[in-house]
Amino acid sequence: MEFTMEQYRESAGFLRERLGDFAPKIAMVLGSGLGYLGDQVERPIFVDYRDIPHFKASTAPGHKGRLVFGFLEGQPVAVMQGRMHHYEGYSYEEVTYAVRVLRLLGCETLVVTNAAGCVNTSWQAGDLMLITDHIKLFSVSPLRGENLPEFGTRFPDASRLYTPRLQELARETAAELGIPLREGVYFYCYGPQYETPAEVRAARILGGDAVGMSTAPEVVAAGHCGMEVLGLTLLSNMAAGILDQPLSEQEVLDAAEAAREKFSGLIRACLRKM
Ligand code: HPA
Repeated sequence: MEFTMEQYRESAGFLRERLGDFAPKIAMVLGSGLGYLGDQVERPIFVDYRDIPHFKASTAPGHKGRLVFGFLEGQPVAVMQGRMHHYEGYSYEEVTYAVRVLRLLGCETLVVTNAAGCVNTSWQAGDLMLITDHIKLFSVSPLRGENLPEFGTRFPDASRLYTPRLQELARETAAELGIPLREGVYFYCYGPQYETPAEVRAARILGGDAVGMSTAPEVVAAGHCGMEVLGLTLLSNMAAGILDQPLSEQEVLDAAEAAREKFSGLIRACLRKM
């Protein structure tokens, strides 16, 4: 389903009314098991997705399905506690709807987080990775269909989707905190099944360091409408076939829980400098 400009405006208008004079600048999407940052927002205003016109609910495990507006490290943020995934049955237009609405509300930056499988065999489960680029070759674009020029151009550049300045900021911040930060390419697979070992080998040959089922669609939409993007991944497990054991959802959530302090510490410190 494609949305009209009027629908985006309607959603933004609804939120503006709920927010009064609060104007978010940084939109944040929190991935599987990483939603706890949303609970740390100060002076929070909660809005459930289901109450917002044209929004969809989010059903994935570890996802709450609401927006939290308020302050983190002094920054006015709009935190998506839970995101929509294509595998839940949402179209890519629906998956990226919220990003565009938050752009209309004035957000200039998107901070995206996710849990992903580690494809790079030199790294370990539990490591954090700065996303420097992504590969999203095997699915259609969220920008497919009529272009809405209020957001951006028909053929947007994608050579700097993950903003170099914010990458540098994250690198510096991680070094200051003494948190090891890998850097690499996020290889998007739409799921919901985890990848086969052959798919993971293919992802590696093609240049992927991590595989995951989110993020890339939202980042494409954010880049189109001129937002700066910072992407951080928790490598929650070694991708399929690397270790001699099956993958499980519980493993991902446990890894997110174990990385809690490290991950939220890094993000909060990055926010302070933004
Ligand atoms: N593959 C895809 N998505 C994921 C994985 C994975 O191994 N781990 C967490 N999200």
